[in-house]
Amino acid sequence: MKFDKPATTNPIDRMKVVGQPHDRIDGPLKTTGTAPYAYEQHAATPDHAYGYIVPAAIAHGRIVNIDTSVARRAPGVLAIVTAADAGKLGKGKYNTATLLGGPEIQHYHQAIAVVVAETFEQARAAASLVHVDYARTPGQFDLAAMKDGAIKPDDPDADTSRGDLDGAFAASPVKLDATYRTPDHAHAMMEPHASIAKWDGDKLTLWTSNQMINWGKGDVALTLGIPKENVRLISPYIGGGFGGKLFVRSDALLAALGARAARRAVAVTLPRPVMFNNTTHRPATIQRIRIGTDTAGKIQAIAHEGWSGDLPGGGPETAVQQTRLLYAGANRMTATRLAVLDLPEGNAMRAPGEASGLMALEIAMDEMAEKLKMDPVEFRILNDTQVDPEHPERPFSQRQLVKCLRDGAQRFGWSKRSQTPGSVRDGRWIVGMGVAAAIRNNLVMKSGARVRLGKDGRATVETDMTDIGTGSYTIIAATAAEMLGLPLEAVNVVLGDSSLPVSSGSGGQWGANSSTAGVYAACVKLREAIAAKLGLDPATAVFEDGHVASGGRTLPLAQATRDGELVAEDTMEYGDLAKKYQQSTFGSHFVEVGVDAATGEIRMRRMLAVCAAGRILNPKSARSQVIGAMTMGVGAALMEELVVDKRLGFFVNHDLAGYEVPVHADIPHQEVVFLDEADPISSPMKAKGVGELGLCGVAAAIANAVHNATGVRTREYPVTLDKLLDRLPAMS
Ligand code: MOS
Repeated sequence: MKFDKPATTNPIDRMKVVGQPHDRIDGPLKTTGTAPYAYEQHAATPDHAYGYIVPAAIAHGRIVNIDTSVARRAPGVLAIVTAADAGKLGKGKYNTATLLGGPEIQHYHQAIAVVVAETFEQARAAASLVHVDYARTPGQFDLAAMKDGAIKPDDPDADTSRGDLDGAFAASPVKLDATYRTPDHAHAMMEPHASIAKWDGDKLTLWTSNQMINWGKGDVALTLGIPKENVRLISPYIGGGFGGKLFVRSDALLAALGARAARRAVAVTLPRPVMFNNTTHRPATIQRIRIGTDTAGKIQAIAHEGWSGDLPGGGPETAVQQTRLLYAGANRMTATRLAVLDLPEGNAMRAPGEASGLMALEIAMDEMAEKLKMDPVEFRILNDTQVDPEHPERPFSQRQLVKCLRDGAQRFGWSKRSQTPGSVRDGRWIVGMGVAAAIRNNLVMKSGARVRLGKDGRATVETDMTDIGTGSYTIIAATAAEMLGLPLEAVNVVLGDSSLPVSSGSGGQWGANSSTAGVYAACVKLREAIAAKLGLDPATAVFEDGHVASGGRTLPLAQATRDGELVAEDTMEYGDLAKKYQQSTFGSHFVEVGVDAATGEIRMRRMLAVCAAGRILNPKSARSQVIGAMTMGVGAALMEELVVDKRLGFFVNHDLAGYEVPVHADIPHQEVVFLDEADPISSPMKAKGVGELGLCGVAAAIANAVHNATGVRTREYPVTLDKLLDRLPAMS
C-alpha cells in the first residue's frame, strides 16, 4: 500500500482499541522474568559454549604481537579467534570502526579476540591469559583542540542559510553570541549487548539484542562475506537500546566467529565496563549560537554552528538541525563541522541532533528573554512559525508548539515564577523554574507485516519489528484488533525475527507510527480477503465485535475461516508527503529545581511535559516513554558525562558506578500531558512518535531553572555544583 495522500476517515478513527490505555501484553513475561532476552535463549541452544572478548588496551596504534598459546591450553578452552585467524572479513554499512580490530587498533577497547570455552568463567579466565604487545601511536582525543581543523562533512545540509545573517545580526539592537558545550554521553541501557550464534552448515542464526534486525542481517552478511539469506537474526525482547543497538556490535560478530571456530553455539555478552568504549556513544559538541532580535523580541537573525568529532570515516552530531525549524527569522544560517578524533565511535543516541542541539539553543533562548526582559514563554510564542522558515512555502503538517507552551505554563503555575533570580527560598533551598521548547522530527519508514486470521477466531501479526521496551507488541496488537473488529486479547503478536516481513524497526522514534501503519496495510488486505470469502463488498464492510457487516448482512468473522486460516501480507510505503510538509513533533518542558544555598547541590522538585505528537496509540506506554525520556534529560542536565582521558584516549568512567544516571528517587514528581491531535499527513494511523521528543529540551529547561534559582548561567553540561559554588547568591 502506498501512502501518498492525506489520510481520510478509516477504521482506526473509531479508537475502540487503539488510543486506549492498555497494559503491555508482554508485561507478565517481563515482570516474571520469563521473557527470553538474547543471552537467555538457552532453549534453542542448550549446549552453547561461552565467548569472552579481549578488548584493546590502547586507543591508537598496532598490535605487534598477540600470543594466545597459553590461553589456548587453559581449562575448557575450545577456540580463540583473532583478526589474524578469522579469515577475510568485510565491513558492514553501519559501523565506522571494524568490529574485530587488529593489527591496526582504531579505538580503546576495540575487540581484538574472542576466547571460547565451556563455561563463562573459563572463557573469562583464559581471556586474561592472551598476551598482547602493542605499539602505541599518538592520537587525537580533544575536540576543543581539533575544532579549528574540523571539516565540512559530505552532506548537502552541512551548511544552510537564508537571507543575510551577518548584516541582520550586526543591525539587531538586542543580541547574543555564545558558545555551549555538551559532553560525550553513553546509552547505558539496562541489558548489555549480547548474542548467541549457531551455525547449521553455512547458515547462521543469531539471537541478539538489536533494534534494527534487517539492517543487522545485512551487516552480518557483509562482514562475514556470506549471502544475506544465510543469516537470521532473532530479537524478540530487548532491554533498552536508545540507539546503541541500532547496529550490529562486536558481540554478534564474535559470537558468529567463535561459533564457527568452536563448531558449537556460542554466547557472547559485552561486560558492562567494556560497553562504554567498545560500542558507540553520543558525541560531545561545541555549539556557537547567535540570535539577534528587534527591541520587541522578534528574531531577525539566528545562527547555529556545531562541532563534534568522530573516527576517520565517521559522521557528525547534527546538533544544529532543530534550529532550522523551531523559530521564525528571515536571516539564518547553520553549519555542521566534524573533527577527526581517535575516541570510540560516535553515533546515534536517543534524539540524535535535537537532544544535544536543544541543550544549547534553549539556554540561548532563555538568555535572550532575559536580555529582553521578556517572559521566556512569551518570547518563544512571539517567534513561533507555522511554516518551515528556510522554505516558507512548506507548511508544518501540524504544529501546536504554542498550545504546548500555553497549556504547560497554565498547568505548571508558571505565573508564580519570579523573574528575579535568587529571590525564592524554601528553607535551605533556593528555588527556580525553567522552561524549554521541544521539537523532534517525525520520520516515516517503509514497514511490512503479515496478518493471519485463524480458525480459532484469533488473529496473529508477524513482522520483524522490535520492541525495545517501548510497547510495540501492544500497539501492534491494538492496530490489528481495531482493523478486524476483535478485542485486544484475540490478537497474537510475533516480533523480532528477520525471517518475518521486514518492518521499520525501532529507531528515530519512527517505530510506533511506521510499524503500525505496516500492520494497517496488511489488515486492509486481510479485510478484503475476508469480505471476498464471505461474498461481501470490501469497500463497505464494517468489522465489529467479531462480525463483518455489509449490504444489510452481518456474518460472524469465523465463517470466513471455516475452510482454513486466511493470510495477508503487505508493506506500507510512502510518497512525497514528507517533502511537501514538514512533519515534526512538539512539546514544552517545565521544571522546578531547588539549589542548596550553601552547597550548590541541585535537586529536581517538579517536571511537566506537554506533548503534541499526533494520535497517541497507547496513552499508558506513551506516558512511560516520556517519563523515561524526561528522566534521561535530568541525567543529561545534571550528571552524565563520559570523561575523556585526553592523553591516552578513552572514556575513564566506563561503568555504572562512574557514569551516573538518575533514578526514580531523584525526581519526586513528573507529569505528562498529550494534546488531542491526529496528523493525517503522517500515516493512516495519524500517529507520530514520542520516545525521543520527551528528551528534547529537558536539560535546557533544568539549566534555565538553575539560573532562575541562583542567577548563575552555565553553558557547559553537566550542570554540577562545582560550576555554581563560587557564584551562589550571598546567604542572608
Ligand atoms: Mo534511536 S537514537 O534512532 O534508537
